[in-house]
Amino acid sequence: MASARVLTGITTTGVPHLGNYVGAIRPAVAASRSAEVESFYFLADYHALIKCQDPELVHRSTLEIAATWLALGLDPQRVVFYRQSDIPEIPELTWLLTCMTAKGLMNRAHAYKAVVQENESAGEDPDFGITMGLFSYPILMAADILLFNATRIPVGRDQVQHIEMARDIAQRFNHHYGEHFVLPEAVVDDQVAVLQGLDGRKMSKSYGNTIPLFLDDRQLRKHINRIKTNLLEPGEPKDPDDSTVFQIWRAFATPEQTAEMRAAFAAGIAWGEAKKRLFELVDGELAPARSRYQALLDDPGHIEAVLRDGAAKARALAAPRLAELRRAVGIRPLG
Ligand code: TRP
Repeated sequence: MASARVLTGITTTGVPHLGNYVGAIRPAVAASRSAEVESFYFLADYHALIKCQDPELVHRSTLEIAATWLALGLDPQRVVFYRQSDIPEIPELTWLLTCMTAKGLMNRAHAYKAVVQENESAGEDPDFGITMGLFSYPILMAADILLFNATRIPVGRDQVQHIEMARDIAQRFNHHYGEHFVLPEAVVDDQVAVLQGLDGRKMSKSYGNTIPLFLDDRQLRKHINRIKTNLLEPGEPKDPDDSTVFQIWRAFATPEQTAEMRAAFAAGIAWGEAKKRLFELVDGELAPARSRYQALLDDPGHIEAVLRDGAAKARALAAPRLAELRRAVGIRPLG
């Protein structure tokens, strides 16, 4: 058996921003270039349907997110890069796992509980607006992972519980039907920067404080100019560790550049100047990917072909796996 099989899903909603880039996309692309591991990256478009029921947005976002990852250097020759909905074995396995999942386990999911709590504080019925999609979401995620016997799952902190649930579900299945699943482990990278947004809070779509990843240079400059700063004048020393400008700088800079900027803050660099340098640094890193991104968006047929290729690779593994699992639960030819 291969030593490490890394797998992660990217929910296809929303426009990727600098925080996603620094915190997830850049490290994932870097890791995918390591020869040691077999990596699976997929567009979780079935997951997107839980949060987004606008067909045009779901469709558009799938294109944009695929183009983003490819533009930033994910190499579909080195990794298996596919779209969840191209793998019919995933929803089939979801059902087999659903029948091995305790409802009580799902009751404990943070994402679901948070919505129940919001409803309760708003005086609504606890289940108001909650679909079975939201409720059973961790089972679909378990199927994504267990179908490929992935061992290492790079995720953000908020997803760790879902990986634990996948383990629980796999264990119950194994206990009942025999050892079919390897137990996956969440990999949370604490070294990776969590970027601050325009207002100094964590950069997040839900705070509306993001800098989208592929703005044109004029828009990027405008966004950077909107980063909140204090009122210190040029010449007055500034505290880098209390500054979003510096924090974003550090996420893009070399250690030498970071030291230089630290010194510039101590020497009282003007906010306008610091932002100008930040723009140049970020733009320098992103500009080449931005033109690749535009070219990819203009050629959706190419992306479609890449994803189909990826799906063929994934299904070559998934189909025999599912056949084995169907036999295991007693779904097999009669004659
Ligand atoms: N739910 C994950 C998120 O919102 C995305 C995802 C779907 C995923 N399936 C997965 C991540 C399987 C890891 C493994 O971030």
